[in-house]
Amino acid sequence: MGGEEVVVRRGGRAASLQALVAHCTEYGFVFPSSEIYGGFAGVYDYGPMGAPLKRNVKEYWWRAMVQLHANIVGLDSAILMHPKVWEASGHTAHFFDWFVENRKNRKRYRVDQVVEAWVDRLRAEGREGEARRVWEAFEEALRSGRSEELTAFFRAYRVEDPEEGAPGDWGAVRRLNLMFVTWAGATDEDRQEVYLRPETAQGIYVNYLHVQRSARLRVPFGIAQVGKAFRNELIFRQFLMRMREFEQMEMQFFVAPEESEEWFDRWIDRRLRWYLALGFDRSRLRVQPHKHLAHYAQKAVDIEYRFPMGWKEVEGIHLRTDYDLRRHQEFSRKKLTYFDPFKQEHYLPHIVETSAGVDRVFLAILSEFLVWEQLDEGSGGGERVVFRCPRWLAPVQVAVFPLVRRDGLPEVARRIFDALSLHFVCAYEEKDSIGRRYRRHDAIGTPYAVTVDYQTLEDETVTLRDRDTLRQERIAIPDLIVRLKELLDWSELLRRVRES
Ligand code: GAP
Repeated sequence: MGGEEVVVRRGGRAASLQALVAHCTEYGFVFPSSEIYGGFAGVYDYGPMGAPLKRNVKEYWWRAMVQLHANIVGLDSAILMHPKVWEASGHTAHFFDWFVENRKNRKRYRVDQVVEAWVDRLRAEGREGEARRVWEAFEEALRSGRSEELTAFFRAYRVEDPEEGAPGDWGAVRRLNLMFVTWAGATDEDRQEVYLRPETAQGIYVNYLHVQRSARLRVPFGIAQVGKAFRNELIFRQFLMRMREFEQMEMQFFVAPEESEEWFDRWIDRRLRWYLALGFDRSRLRVQPHKHLAHYAQKAVDIEYRFPMGWKEVEGIHLRTDYDLRRHQEFSRKKLTYFDPFKQEHYLPHIVETSAGVDRVFLAILSEFLVWEQLDEGSGGGERVVFRCPRWLAPVQVAVFPLVRRDGLPEVARRIFDALSLHFVCAYEEKDSIGRRYRRHDAIGTPYAVTVDYQTLEDETVTLRDRDTLRQERIAIPDLIVRLKELLDWSELLRRVRES
């Protein structure tokens, strides 16, 4: 056992989003885009620790979907698509937000969020009748689809500004289209407006028959895809929660119409299990039915996580019926029905969609597993910041250190690094005291550290330190690879997803 073994009191999670943002910048997880030019709102870059963590989140999702299910296959469709896709999907007509500005403080809000916050406050104060009246009037104004009606509602009801707790001096309610537009074509005459996809799902729908036939699938089956999506959002206040450019992990599950509700419930359970298998505390996850359904959904729930700034959606699960396939069939004039060999009939399958945001899952993982711990006196006391990142997802899996930078220890440590890095993502560090090196790797989430010390020169053993328990075991160098492979084997995680 090493001298560092301590009793660790369970510590606190980040109390604020600011603490997470600061950690992300300091340790190279996430940086604001184009910062030297003052940044570009709603766009972020992933740094040396963030990029591998994000890749591992996607890897975990892909394995849980494609590797674990014989009837789910992967796809990688293009970001740019024929403009008609977005007409058929309903995005050109329906994919917009209403927003409003409080002229007093010049703050802009999405109207649904302002009204929901106010109604929640009224309810919390026991003013149920008033809350109901406000909500009904708001829904009626929304149904009109006219900005004049919504503006009149805001003024007549003296809607409260959520940040001021008092009625706002509301300007006109306006509409913001959420899709990014660009142009394809070399000359003015053949220029064509195209959109950056606002969801990855449509690439799956327009390819579904190709995929089904080439992979010889039968209903029920799924198509999984991970990729970038773009939305011209209006308000950016919460770091990776609302971005203009972000990534989605979407799986579309094609089922017989009469089985769609059953599959919808089943996928809610399966998706919750995906988070629980990583070690998320059940009390910080919840399933919330949607208050407003998207234009394509018959039923929808969000999986929400309790971030430092409150409950927020990380994933949506939608029962999209045959809406998308029906619309694509209509707009493309191509038959998109599936032939069911058991029923001997042609039909449009119904679709259950699971749609998780990579960036929001990334932020949820940081919020859940980054903790500030008090160490006991035996280890010199003080605090350590430890990212208890699920070990399979850690940006660095194994750190290799010589105890000191002399007496031949670095040479041995380098040889160990060379051998281990054929199997694992490793870091080699010899600068600073060993304590500081351990602390740095605690903060970035490295689950295991191998230290070469003077005893190594005598008996070919090293210490293997566990980030969470701080326990150090002595292990023979030739046994290291097998031991670490056991510890980092993905099958344990995947078994939990399947069975827990
Ligand atoms: N295909 C369905 C769909 O796109 P959505 O609820 O609009 O549904 C799914 O988005 C997920 O994508 C959300 O749960 C969220 O995690 C992520 N997401 C959506 N908009 C986002 C944004 N502006 N920034 C970051 N993530 C976003």
